[in-house]
Amino acid sequence: MARRTPAQTHDEYPDEEYMTTIPRVELEVPEDIRRRWEERGDPIVKYPAEVLRQTAKPVEKPTAATRELVERMKSAMIVARGVGLAAPQMGVSERVIIYQLPEEGAPLRVIINPRIISMKGEQVGPEGCLSIPMLQGDVRRAHEIVVRGIDMLGRPIKRRACEFEARVIQHEVDHLDGILFMDRAEAGTLYWHLPGDSEEEEDAALHE
Ligand code: NI
Repeated sequence: MARRTPAQTHDEYPDEEYMTTIPRVELEVPEDIRRRWEERGDPIVKYPAEVLRQTAKPVEKPTAATRELVERMKSAMIVARGVGLAAPQMGVSERVIIYQLPEEGAPLRVIINPRIISMKGEQVGPEGCLSIPMLQGDVRRAHEIVVRGIDMLGRPIKRRACEFEARVIQHEVDHLDGILFMDRAEAGTLYWHLPGDSEEEEDAALHE
């Protein structure tokens, strides 16, 4: 069994510095959790790094540097066994996301300058984040979305997604606006999950 520790939250960030009206939740990261983050040894930027709260800038035209960034994101996501990653999590404040659903043969998708142009319905489910490992909470998301963006060659992409895929995309697009999943978590559902004897528990929720 994993140990569950209620997450301590406190004051919200002041509003005017930020682009959206979503209140920013600040977290107290327990000492033992922080130590475990350091032991993970993955290159992903961890909370409360400033870059995770910034609004990322659009990519004007994908270049060799964009492709190199995406390659670094892919390997970081694989090492951390995540399903999605946003460029700010590599310390790069640009609007690039990648994800790969945990299904046999699922393609790795790259969306540059993603913009969610429609949202329908609702779903509530557990989320986690590779920048805040071991924190979990339930988040309400749209059930179905349409996202537009461009691919690595600068060609327009439009994708309709629902359920889990829609959740992943919404979580990653939030990263580009400096929004973290705990800002949207349902009241009282945020917990630190310390892996115990069984490491499997840590994989119960989505890791992005
Ligand atoms: Ni995340």
